[in-house]
Amino acid sequence: MIESNRVQKILYGGDYNPEQWPEETWAEDMRLLKLAHIDVVTLNVFSWASLQSDDDVYHFDKLDKIMNLVRENGMKVCLATATGAHPAWMARKYPDILRTEFNGMKRKFGSRHNSCPNSPTYYKFAKALATKLAERYKDYDNVVAWHISNEYGGECYCENCEKKFREWLKEKYQTIDALNQAWDTAFWGHTFYDFDDIVAPNMLSEHFEYNRTTFQGISLDYKRFNSESILNCFRLEYDVIHAITPDIPITTNLMGTYQPLDYQMWAKYMDFISWDNYPSYNAMLEDTALRHDLMRGLKQGKPFALMEQTPSVTNWHPYNALKRPGVMRLWSYQAVAHGADTVMFFQMKRSIGACEKYHGAVIDHAGHENTRVFREITELGAELDKIGSLTLGARTNSKAAIVFDWDNWWATDYSAGPSVNLHYCDEIFNYYKVFNNLNIPVDFISVEDDLSQYDLVIAPILYMIKPDYDEKIRTFVKAGGRFVTTFFSGYVDEHDLVTVGGYPGKLRDILGIWVEEEDALPEDAANSFTYNGKKYPAKLICDLLHTEGAKALCSYEQDFYAGMPTLTCNSFGNGKAYYVATRSNAEFYRSFIGEICKEIGIRPIINTPDSVEVTKRTNANGTFLFFLNHDSESHNITLNCDGIDILSDTTYKTGDILLLAAKDVVILQVK
Ligand code: GLA
Ligand code: ZN
Repeated sequence: MIESNRVQKILYGGDYNPEQWPEETWAEDMRLLKLAHIDVVTLNVFSWASLQSDDDVYHFDKLDKIMNLVRENGMKVCLATATGAHPAWMARKYPDILRTEFNGMKRKFGSRHNSCPNSPTYYKFAKALATKLAERYKDYDNVVAWHISNEYGGECYCENCEKKFREWLKEKYQTIDALNQAWDTAFWGHTFYDFDDIVAPNMLSEHFEYNRTTFQGISLDYKRFNSESILNCFRLEYDVIHAITPDIPITTNLMGTYQPLDYQMWAKYMDFISWDNYPSYNAMLEDTALRHDLMRGLKQGKPFALMEQTPSVTNWHPYNALKRPGVMRLWSYQAVAHGADTVMFFQMKRSIGACEKYHGAVIDHAGHENTRVFREITELGAELDKIGSLTLGARTNSKAAIVFDWDNWWATDYSAGPSVNLHYCDEIFNYYKVFNNLNIPVDFISVEDDLSQYDLVIAPILYMIKPDYDEKIRTFVKAGGRFVTTFFSGYVDEHDLVTVGGYPGKLRDILGIWVEEEDALPEDAANSFTYNGKKYPAKLICDLLHTEGAKALCSYEQDFYAGMPTLTCNSFGNGKAYYVATRSNAEFYRSFIGEICKEIGIRPIINTPDSVEVTKRTNANGTFLFFLNHDSESHNITLNCDGIDILSDTTYKTGDILLLAAKDVVILQVK
């Protein structure tokens, strides 16, 4: 949440780029934005070129005017630092600022998010610009947040980065022998005698595809190094801004399930999380919900900001279908339901040129308020005014958690075998979907987070066990927790080196099993098993395992390993640890996880059809239930509590029917 005494309601607004338009048009923009109940604008996102024309030549007059205009019109500002795209003159004069791609191609000036994260030029000028902006606008009492750069991402493989990578490795491993061991360089005669022997792992060296490397150790370390390098760019600006305006919270807009950056590490250096949500027209509601929950988990459940979404269409999906009537509202509240304290858009006004001219906006090319999109935005704005501060800061209290870990994601992506169809996020999704469909709150946690507040912890594909993580799980289960993990877990240490003695390595005693072999099935093949009298498919990976203390709950029905367990349960201390040896279908996950929840008293908020999501947030004002009907049909929900609809002021009693129209949202304050 943007925790600041400058924020008294769900902020409503987003990216506004008046510098792309003649000044005479600004007053009309203000009229339209206010008409739509917009109260915050994100300014200055891509203005570096207009702010600085040479080493020491800055021009702030235009931004001054915009800042004053916005303040005079009573709007808040989310102030960006404009370092998401460097000016052309800078690239001409200092080519070290340009990135080198994965294939080794040195880029020329172009596009955006284009600066090498280890470029001395970038460091120097980004720091200078952030400092100047903070000094210049520090007394504007309508600035509610700093927005550093924009959607940080990508990678660089230039010589500067390569040099820094060597220094990073030296710092990490101290000696070349330790590095050789960690990367197992005895394989294929890779022994390094000097840190200077090491080159960046890309298409010129260890890789033969983006995710296919001959040495996981170096590639994994480069992922970590690149994520940290880019994070250092954020921290560089953070530090100077924070020193000048310590009371204004600082963020950068993240991108949900974005693989190249370890957002859990990033979150430690951000004052609040913000992210950009752009589901495709046919996105599954659970998929979007997963991303919201993942973003909420980055700061242990603190509310986050929805920094961007389109009011109507994007320009970059393969099919840029319109958000149907009601969908913009529904998806905005979906963010709030999962922990957002802002509803913001890209963008306030459509540009007339370049690649985003057909991207949706509050003010369309038509230029007036008589559009469907403008009307929907205005109606939602009025609702958010009505909600005021009621839901701000509200938390989701979950008894169940899913472990999500960027290192595990990277290591799974890089793994040569067992199957090209094994994707970390797919397996996470299979388990997440159960909670979403059952309306059971669930948190995403990192391996650093405390487990003691949870009754159930699920760690799909816990392939890599970082130092002492097994001990954390051991303590959790011994104390009575329920732990679930899956195939392809416990295989390696933090260097991607196999823990020998039988999979799942350090988790063996907790799970009471050992895995001898794993069979990766081709796409159309399946084994089967029967759980609670129902037959389910076993797909993708079938572990061939032996119990050593655990109870087999069901077993394979075909092939030479028929009779071997597919699902086991081990009583360990006061708790239980489950191992799911294969991939099955949604019905199985629902039945299996649903049963564990029932056994330990984790109850759904309320039962609804899968297309009706219900979430719960609680703050000092009370408890709020969000009913979101994603269906194109209406649904009747029999309520299990008394409450008042905070938008219509209708009161309900337990047993009353809540009629949810297609795509409709109701927020009940529980009485
Ligand atoms: C991202 C960027 C914006 C804009 C939108 C378009 O989220 O941050 O600048 O390009 O995408 O969807
Ligand atoms: Zn570089």
